[in-house]
Formats: sequence, structure tokens, C-alpha cells
Amino acid sequence: MMSKYVTGAVAALALGALATGGAYAQGTVKIGLIVSMTGQQASTGKQIKAAVDLYMKQHGDTVAGKKIEVILRDSGSVPDHTKRLAQELIVNDHVNIIAGFEITPAALVAAPLATKAKVVELVMAAGTSIITEKSPYIVRTSFTVPQSAVIIADWAAQNKIKKVVTIVSDYAPGYDAEKSFTERFKSHGGQILQAIRVPLANPDFAPFLQRAADAKPDAIYIFVPSGQGGTFMKQFTERGLDKAGIKLIGTGDVTDDDLLPGMGDAAIGTVTAHMYSADHQSAANKAYVAAFEKANHFRPNFMSVGGYDGMHLIYAALKKTKGKADAESLIAAMKGMKWESPRGPIEIDPQTRDIIQNIYIRKVEKKDGQLYNVEFETFKAVKDPVKAAKK
Ligand code: PHB
Repeated sequence: MMSKYVTGAVAALALGALATGGAYAQGTVKIGLIVSMTGQQASTGKQIKAAVDLYMKQHGDTVAGKKIEVILRDSGSVPDHTKRLAQELIVNDHVNIIAGFEITPAALVAAPLATKAKVVELVMAAGTSIITEKSPYIVRTSFTVPQSAVIIADWAAQNKIKKVVTIVSDYAPGYDAEKSFTERFKSHGGQILQAIRVPLANPDFAPFLQRAADAKPDAIYIFVPSGQGGTFMKQFTERGLDKAGIKLIGTGDVTDDDLLPGMGDAAIGTVTAHMYSADHQSAANKAYVAAFEKANHFRPNFMSVGGYDGMHLIYAALKKTKGKADAESLIAAMKGMKWESPRGPIEIDPQTRDIIQNIYIRKVEKKDGQLYNVEFETFKAVKDPVKAAKK
């Protein structure tokens, strides 16, 4: 019998052997859900797990005659753990789908395993453009960072912002955030005074914020991954930048609904572009937020909808394949799938397997004593601009 703690080499061999197979238990579709329930990205794991649980509570655990089984694994926010867990789930548990992936490095390490074992890799969180190009079995229900970065660049240029300091996390989605914003903003005649990159692990923004303030920009453009916006906002306020007349703009990750209620009034007025706000005005979202808050006693954020819509995509694809759960059938069924998410209408791009969705411009405001990202402009059916430009 294979040890539970299978080594990398053994697992790689077994992956090859499995390439023609699928799940052994014919009546069950197994989803290996790998997220961070602990460590730096724990808020993402908490949000996705809550959304997956909610979806299954609302829609049952049987689709097209198959029982849906979710096997949850905690990556501890360590990409190498994701790799080992994905191997174990594929080789030992014979999962049909690996899902989750709270950050880009986790999504990337799993890609060769998905390709080799022919299992679907459903990215519910990570946002670097390139991810979906790393395996034909990757499909994404979260977002790409450039989808939002180019739209906030347009907005800034149209709203008297001429000089910007960019601050991004020093890893792949931060580089996407920096490049997409900068190219677009410069194309409108905007000027980048400084481009600052801050370490991903335990970031201290204070010295970088001082440098940014000294450059006297009209605005600071910020990208930090979900979970870090609270620290950033606290240090932004402590440095007095909110009172220095420097606007704060960014992709919506910084005003993440998970942390926004605790950010304090300094966050008011921050303008961001993003795909989801808990304040999104639709019947579907009102029902989603009410059910989510009832079950969890916290607000759903943009990561939660990646999980919720990911489950919908699996259920809808299985209905279409009449329960066939091999990767080729599932991916073919997922391509071009359209539905209404709590965030608005969404679609899986049949060419790229990436998500097409509305991007909203939002401003942080107080509503009934609580901070929300209040949407005021909509850009419909936005594709990943980086892949669109490659064509
Ligand atoms: C990523 O690592 O791709 C990532 C994580 C959190 C975000 C955005 C991107 O909010």
C-alpha cells in the first residue's frame, strides 16, 4: 500500500500512470480543495471554504447522478505544501478536480501536475494573467489583476490625476498590477514618479509610504493581495498621507470586504476598480450576502465569489457532461459557460479558459455606519487585457 506521505518521485511516477484514468469511485466526483486555512493568506481560505460550503448547502451534494465530495487541505500559505497536497490528492485520493489556490505561486506549482495527471485545476483565487496558460486543464473563476489595473488607470487619467507613485507587492501579481497600470496610465500622458515594490511576507509599508509622500504625487496606486489591506491602510493613516491630499487608488484588493469593516474612516474616499463588492446592487448578491452572513457572521469578499462560482461551474459542467468527470469532458463543457454570479454576469472565455466579467469603479463610503465599496461605474464583459493583447 502506498504510504500517506508519498515522496515527490513516487508521486510523479504515479501521476504518469494515472494519466489515462479518472476517479476510481465511479459514482463520486472528488474535488481536492487546497487553500490556506492558516498563515498569511488564511482569510482567503476562510472565505473560499465558507462559500463552497454555502453553495453545497444550497444546491445539495448530488449532480447528474454523481455524489460530490470535497476534500479540504490546508496549504498553510506555503506553495510547496500545495504541490505536495495536490500530488497526494491526485495519487492517493484520485480526485477529478483540484481547486482553490490562494496565491499565484500555489496555482503555478500545481499546473504541471494537472497536465500530467489530466485533472482539472480550478483557480478560485490567484490573479496573475499567465496562470491559465500553464496547463490546458486550468480554468479560472477569480479574476486577473490586469482586468482591474487598466480600468483604474483610465479612471485616474480622466480624473485629474497626473503624477502617481505605484506601490505593489514584490511577486507575480504585483508585477502584473504595476505593468498594466503603468502602460495604460502613460498612454494617457500620465507620469509615474516612483515604482515601489514591497516584500510579500510580513510587509512594513511605513518607509515606502514616506518615500512615496516625499515625491508629492497626486495619487498613490496600490496593489496588495487580499489580507494585507488593513496593515497598509493603518500605516497610510499613521503617516498622515490621508490628510496630505494624496489620493489613494488601486485594484480593489486593498479595500477587501473581509477587512474593510475594521479599516476606519481613513479608508473613506479610496477609489478602486474590481469585480466584486459586498454592496453590489443586485437581487442575486443581496441573497448571497444575506445567506453568507447568516452562516458565517462575517462579510463575503471577492475571494468568496471565486469559490462560490467555482462550485457553480463544476455543477453546471457535470450537468452538461451527464456526469462524465474526465478533464477533457469537463474543460470542454466549462468553455463558454455563462451565468449570473453575485458579482454580476460572468463567462468562461472559450479561447483562454479565463473569466470574462464586469469591472466596477467603486469608492469607499459609509452606509448605515459601515464601510463599503460603493460601485458607481460599470465596464461590461472585460477580458484579461494581457492575453487579449497577445492575439
Ligand atoms: C495572487 O497571488 O495571485 C493574488 C492573491 C491575492 C490577491 C490578488 C492576487 O488579492
